[in-house]
Amino acid sequence: MAKKRILSGMQPSGLLHLGNYYGALKNWIELQEQFECFYFVADWHSLTTLYEDPSHIKKYTFEVAVDWLSAGLDPGKSTLFVQSRIPEHAELHLILSMVVPVPWLERNPTYKEKQVEVKNVDMSSYGFLGYPVLQTADIVLYNADYVPVGIDQAPHLEISREIVRRFNGLYKKKVFKEPQAKISEIPKLNGIDGRKMSKSYNNAIYLSDTEKDITKKVKAMLTDPARGLRTDPGDPDVCNLFPFHKLYSPEDMQKEIDRDCRTAALGCGDCKLKLVDTMLEGLRPHMERRREIAAKPREVEEILEEGTRKAQKVAKATLDRAKQAIKF
Ligand code: TRP
Repeated sequence: MAKKRILSGMQPSGLLHLGNYYGALKNWIELQEQFECFYFVADWHSLTTLYEDPSHIKKYTFEVAVDWLSAGLDPGKSTLFVQSRIPEHAELHLILSMVVPVPWLERNPTYKEKQVEVKNVDMSSYGFLGYPVLQTADIVLYNADYVPVGIDQAPHLEISREIVRRFNGLYKKKVFKEPQAKISEIPKLNGIDGRKMSKSYNNAIYLSDTEKDITKKVKAMLTDPARGLRTDPGDPDVCNLFPFHKLYSPEDMQKEIDRDCRTAALGCGDCKLKLVDTMLEGLRPHMERRREIAAKPREVEEILEEGTRKAQKVAKATLDRAKQAIKF
């Protein structure tokens, strides 16, 4: 039986951090074993927020690809490509935009939230309103069965399904497949200051950080805020450091830390040093791979070119079907 198909995209708005890894990339890597996967850098989507200064998008497109490859996305298993190199995305976006009622887009919660949330960029653009339409084109071009995304993207997937039903209904033909969201559970991993890990909060640990960067960041981490003195007992359940121990430290060490923190036998400074050790040990293979891959930009470029070629064939066939449906 043919493998089911997975498709997902990531915006190249910066270097990838551990939040991106545990929130999406790790899952993508696992899905490669069971599914036929298409993963792409959504550079056109990042223009919705970066249109005033798009000068770094190209650089980050490369860096994201390097992060992907060093973390374990395998071009032998998955098709890796760049959205803007496949004009079929833009063309289908245009065709779809003709059949999508604007109120569907205006009631998209992300659209409304960003108008309030994003202060430094005017988010009232036509392109941003149409974000889910472009995303629908991304998905249906590849006849994707499942789209792995975080829960925040669930409304977008719902819009995609509605668009598919509307298009197929209007032209009385099953041109597009209705995609299903594959919502991944995201472990709670905050940044070093205890807020959600994010580039814009300046609190992230990056997949491209050096040992020195990581050591410095771990030492600066917020711990249990109620533990004022070294002699005060702490609570790992509210400590911002402990979730990292759960990811990187062996289980017996976690138990020991949990016990000794609660009795104040262990101080936060020593607890951080333990984390620096286990984290560096865990991340070192990745760091080495990343250095090797980043040193061969030509090979990275070839992987993206090859992926783009493969993806474009599929995209073109779908676009042709869409054009036939509208008798163009
Ligand atoms: N909106 C997604 C995000 O910001 C990125 C994206 C663009 C995407 N097109 C997609 C994800 C298609 C899944 C499928 O995370």
